[in-house]
Amino acid sequence: MITLALSKGRIFEETLPLLKAAGIAVLDDPERSRKLILDTNLPDVRLLVVRATDVPTYVQYGGADLGITGKDTLLEHGGQGLYQPLDLQIAKCRMSVAVRADFDYASAIKQGSRLTVATKFVAIAREFFASKGVHVDLIKLYGSMELAPLVGMADAIVDVVSTGGTLKANHLVEVEQIMEISSRLVVNQAALKLKREPIRKIIDAFASAIVVPA
Ligand code: ATP
Ligand code: PRP
Repeated sequence: MITLALSKGRIFEETLPLLKAAGIAVLDDPERSRKLILDTNLPDVRLLVVRATDVPTYVQYGGADLGITGKDTLLEHGGQGLYQPLDLQIAKCRMSVAVRADFDYASAIKQGSRLTVATKFVAIAREFFASKGVHVDLIKLYGSMELAPLVGMADAIVDVVSTGGTLKANHLVEVEQIMEISSRLVVNQAALKLKREPIRKIIDAFASAIVVPA
């Protein structure tokens, strides 16, 4: 049996063409079904539907042989025990710093002020500001980071940005781009040894279906 961990929403949607290339069709719709283990057309392949942030953990501990997860989530997890063979070029966005439009970020940095930063991505934020020599107090949030500067809880946020629509709707501006983000295929290292043949087949099929930007 080969078990692949995925999250609902954009990763699931954008993974369907890759699954198709591997000859895998999902028999249930995760948005409608309450089932957490989804059958496929292949009797020896099943999907686990887990929280996006839990995908690396399921693969690390062998609950799943493979998983698809954002680079952001992978960096926060640490990647222990995971082989990362492919950048799938899906769920693309960027990790950025944003502030209220009336906050003078450049001056605050120049003056060496201590910044309060709200984020779900504490490891990425800590590393980024340390590399710039900026002192920060980090506030861990689990979502709706955009609110924190609006209610005076933080000077800045670190969050993913795609169209920029969410920042704009909340009167925030992007002041730094930390890194480009896309989703990765991750594989349990022990499973790769024990089930080399079928896992290799999936990796190769996914690799052939990646759409590389021009
Ligand atoms: P959780 O439910 O565990 O908190 P989440 O809400 O971040 O996770 P998703 O919103 O499904 O989960 O995001 C999954 C991945 O998609 C993220 O890890 C990131 O790599 C990418 N992503 C997040 N937001 C966007 C976006 N607006 N556009 C494109 N990709 C995105
Ligand atoms: C993500 C992220 C931002 C938004 C950015 O939220 O947390 O709020 O996307 O995208 P944009 O630049 O195109 O507006 P998501 O849509 O995943 O909602 P969630 O955080 O509630 O899951």
